[in-house]
Amino acid sequence: LTVGILFGGKSVEHEISIRSAINVVQNMDKDRFEPVLIGIDKKGGWFQNTEVSEHIDTGDALVWYPTSEGHYLKNIETDKELKPDVVFPVLHGTDGEDGSIQGLFQVANLPVVGSGVLGSSVSMDKLFSKRLLKEAGVPTGNFIAFHRYQKDQVNFDDIETQLGLPFIIKPARLGSSVGVSKVNNETEFLSALDETFQYDQVILIEEFIEGRELECAVIGNEEPIASRPGEIVLQKDYDFYTYEAKYLDKDAVSIIVPAEVEDRIVRKIQEFSINAYQSLGCEDFARVDLFLKEDGTVLINEVNTIPGFTNASMFPMLWQDAGITYKDLISRLIDMALL
Ligand code: DAL
Ligand code: MG
Repeated sequence: LTVGILFGGKSVEHEISIRSAINVVQNMDKDRFEPVLIGIDKKGGWFQNTEVSEHIDTGDALVWYPTSEGHYLKNIETDKELKPDVVFPVLHGTDGEDGSIQGLFQVANLPVVGSGVLGSSVSMDKLFSKRLLKEAGVPTGNFIAFHRYQKDQVNFDDIETQLGLPFIIKPARLGSSVGVSKVNNETEFLSALDETFQYDQVILIEEFIEGRELECAVIGNEEPIASRPGEIVLQKDYDFYTYEAKYLDKDAVSIIVPAEVEDRIVRKIQEFSINAYQSLGCEDFARVDLFLKEDGTVLINEVNTIPGFTNASMFPMLWQDAGITYKDLISRLIDMALL
């Protein structure tokens, strides 16, 4: 079977996607699957590559072209059609994890690993996912959202009254903590507000949750299963789990798999994670990020439909801990898309 591996992309998580795709390709069962590497550069150009690297635009240019049997990708240097049996978008964030590319391949009649249009777009959007989680009775932190055209109505005192201090301000539809700030006072708030609106038209202001940061992996469709949670422990003096702490500073965090949490809480985390996954319409796989407060309260932070597969990423580690090797995991994900 040929598997189109999509990587790079226009999103702010371009580099992370490349790091994820290197691992996915390395761990594919080459007896069963032949990877076809499709790189998307930062401008949105598509190229066929011979290896996963940041030099995406040195590959052969690809174009979409219509035929009477649907839309195909074509390598315009070799004039060959590219029609993988299945595609695995190892893309994070905008235009990769938000339903756009899922829709493109749906129109092209190609099966895609992971969530479809709805599950992807709803999970990518932190405002809509929180609304759905609340409706489903899945606990999540308190929040307020504003559209750019409501900027004049944003009032620090009102927010402080509703959410307390500090609070978190973030773009509604980005990943890897890009554009996220923790706010302690009005001055910080005003600069964070401007910055956040540069990333998205919709921003979310959330209560700051004092607690342990846990992540739980979910796979499956009819009867999804959840892994034991892992824990992110910030080692250094970071205010929260920032982009830098995630990817740039090797000493910033320890990843503990599995997290040391009593079984009763583990079961609660797994139940909430599967509930969240199903309420948001997720398919095949996702990673659910949560907080565990000292009093045992579990709150869902967000759901990532294409979680990282980098060397520092929790999703594959959680399955390894559950006895599913990296290779088996990738095979399972691809097989689910073909069902
Ligand atoms: N958005 C990053 C890749 C993650 O959730 O792991
Ligand atoms: Mg995320």
